Amino acid sequence: MTEWSELMDGALTVREHAHAPYSGYRVGAAVMDEAGRVHAGCNVENAAYPEGLCAEAGAIAAMVAAGGRRIRAIAVAGGHDTPGACTPCGGCRQKIREFADADTRIVLLDGAGATVSYGIDDLLPYSFLLQTD
Ligand code: THU
Repeated sequence: MTEWSELMDGALTVREHAHAPYSGYRVGAAVMDEAGRVHAGCNVENAAYPEGLCAEAGAIAAMVAAGGRRIRAIAVAGGHDTPGACTPCGGCRQKIREFADADTRIVLLDGAGATVSYGIDDLLPYSFLLQTD
């Protein structure tokens, strides 16, 4: 998993900027695009709870805004006080799916620093996708 160390470092670093005063659960995500560029995002909660944003959503939005269109890999670091890895929520799985292909790796970092990696079909089988080309 060493090839994704830059990505995992990015997720850990941006997690420090999470705005999570309501859940206390801080999440960082870093996306590597098709050009090898890294885009980061953290969760941004809101007093109006449903308006909160997941870390993955922020990182993907940053990638798209920078012109990236494929996710080569995404690293997610969540909940440093909690033992398990932060597995992306259902909505974020679909957001990742939009820019994923069969080679995309979704790398999760748990509180102990261990990593586990999945493909999008592991996390979101039979996913919805429109063919536009
Ligand atoms: N969260 C993420 O940022 N990504 C996920 O995939 C799961 C959950 C955030 C949302 C909320 O701010 C906090 O974690 C607790 O649910």
